[in-house]
Amino acid sequence: MPRAHIELDRRAVIGPVRRRTFGSFVEHLGRCVYTGLYEPDHPTANPDGFRMDVVELVRELGSTTVRYPGGNFVSGFRWEDSVGPRASRPVRRDLSWHSLESNQVGLDEFAKWLKLTDSELMLAVNVATRGILPALDLLEYANHPSGTALSDLRIANGTPEPHDVRMWCLGNEMDGPWQTGFMTAEDYGKLAARTAAAMKAADKDLELVVCGSSGSGMPTFGDWERTVLEHSYDHVDYVSCHAYYQVHDGDLGSFLASATDMDYFIDTVLATADHVGHKKRSSKKINISFDEWNVWYLKEHQESEEVNEEWRHAPRQLEDQYTVADAVVVGNLLMTLLKRSDRVTSASLAQLVNVIAPIMTEPGGPAWRQTTFYPFSITSRLASGEVIRPVIDAPAYLTARHGEASVIDAVATADEDRAAVFLVNRDLSEPARVTIDVRSLALSRIVEAVTLADSDPYARNTLAQQLRVTPAANTSAALADGVLSIELPPVSWTAISLGRG
Ligand code: AHR
Repeated sequence: MPRAHIELDRRAVIGPVRRRTFGSFVEHLGRCVYTGLYEPDHPTANPDGFRMDVVELVRELGSTTVRYPGGNFVSGFRWEDSVGPRASRPVRRDLSWHSLESNQVGLDEFAKWLKLTDSELMLAVNVATRGILPALDLLEYANHPSGTALSDLRIANGTPEPHDVRMWCLGNEMDGPWQTGFMTAEDYGKLAARTAAAMKAADKDLELVVCGSSGSGMPTFGDWERTVLEHSYDHVDYVSCHAYYQVHDGDLGSFLASATDMDYFIDTVLATADHVGHKKRSSKKINISFDEWNVWYLKEHQESEEVNEEWRHAPRQLEDQYTVADAVVVGNLLMTLLKRSDRVTSASLAQLVNVIAPIMTEPGGPAWRQTTFYPFSITSRLASGEVIRPVIDAPAYLTARHGEASVIDAVATADEDRAAVFLVNRDLSEPARVTIDVRSLALSRIVEAVTLADSDPYARNTLAQQLRVTPAANTSAALADGVLSIELPPVSWTAISLGRG
C-alpha cells in the first residue's frame, strides 16, 4: 500500500479562507434558471416562483457569490428586456446557446432568489455588443439609491432598495471565436479600460473583473492577458481565469491530476499580471477571479443531439452526470483554489443547477445532489480561518497530459478552535496510508472524517438513483500523539475536521 506523510506547520499560512472562493455561476442557459431555479408551477415554488427544494440544496452546498447572467449569454443580452412588468418583456433569441429567452427572470427577481440563498451577486455586463453607456445604465439601475431616471425605474418596478452589486465582470471570454462580438486583445483591452474607468467614476469602490483568455489552451493565452492588462491595469481589480477538465480517451490518471494544470495556469496568469504591473511601476496587484471552473464533457456535448436548429425555450443542454472520479477532481480543484488564496480571491464553480452543475432537477419532480456536490459543500462548511501550506511526502506517478503528479494531494485550514484537512488519493487501484503531523494545530479531537469513494469510479447519481453515491464516515481515521493517520481508498476525496477535546 502506498504511504504518504504530511507535515503541517500552523505558521505556514498562505492566506485567509475567503468565502468568495466558494462562489458559483447561474447563466441563462439550458435549464439552469427555467425549471432549475424558477418553476412557478412546481409544488415547492414560493410566491415568486422559485423552487424551494433547490434553495435548500443551494444553502446546503454553501455557495457564496453567484456570477450572473452569463457566460456567453451575456454577450447578446439587453438587460432592459428583463426588468419591469413581466407581461411586456420580449422573447429574444439567444445566439450563443441557440435558444429562446423569455426574460421572465431578470435582475430584480434574481436578487430575491439571492436573498433566499444568502448569496452575493457578481454581475456581468455586455461589453461585447453593447458598450459603455448600457453598462453605466445597468449600474445606475442596480446600485443608485434613488432620484435618477433608472434608479426611480427600479423603485417603480418594485425594488426600493439598491442591489449594491460590488463585483462586476466586464464581458465574458472575449477572445473566444464562439463569443458574440469577440475581439482582439487590443480592442477589448481599450474598451474594458474605458468601461471600467466610467463605472469607477460612478462608484470608485466597485470591484471589476477584466476577461482573461477563455482558457490556457487558447492560442491567445498569455499575450491576451498581457495586452489587455497593459490597457486596463489601472482601472480593474481582477483578471478572470476559466478552466474545464474532462477524461480524455479514458486516461483517468491524467484526469485525476487536473489540479496540477490549474496550479500551473494560475502561476502563468499571475506572472503575466505582475509583469505588466512591474512595467508600469505600479504598487497595485491584480488578483485572479477564477470565475469558471469545473469538470465538463464538452466534446461529447458538441457531438450530441443537443445541437440542433430549433429555437427552444430552456432546452436540456450540458446536463452532465458526474461520476465519483469527477467529484474527486472537483474536490481537488477546490483544494488548489484554497492553496492559492493569497492571489485567487474569488472563484465560481460553473455552474449551479442542471447545466454542468452539482444540483439537478426534474420539471415538476425532485431535485438531487450530483457526486460533485459533496466535496464542494463539505469544504465550504469545514474550511475556516487560514489556509495552511502542507509539506507532502508521497509517491509520484507519470501522467500523459500533466507530467509527474503526486499520488496524494492535500491542503489544510485552521482557525483558533478548529482545523480541517482535505485530501485526495489519485491512485487508480491502491488505497494509501497517510500520516499527518498536526501537533502545531494544538487540537486533540477528530470531529468528523468523511470520504467520497466507490468501487466503481464511474458511479453517479441519477434521477432513478439519486443517492447511489454519498460520502461515508472514514472509520480508519485516528489521532494519537499529534499524528493523524488515515487510509484513503483509491480514487477518493476525504475531509477530516479537528477540534478541541
Ligand atoms: O459555463 C458554460 C460556458 O462556458 C459559459 O457560458 C462560457 O463562458 C464558457 O465557455
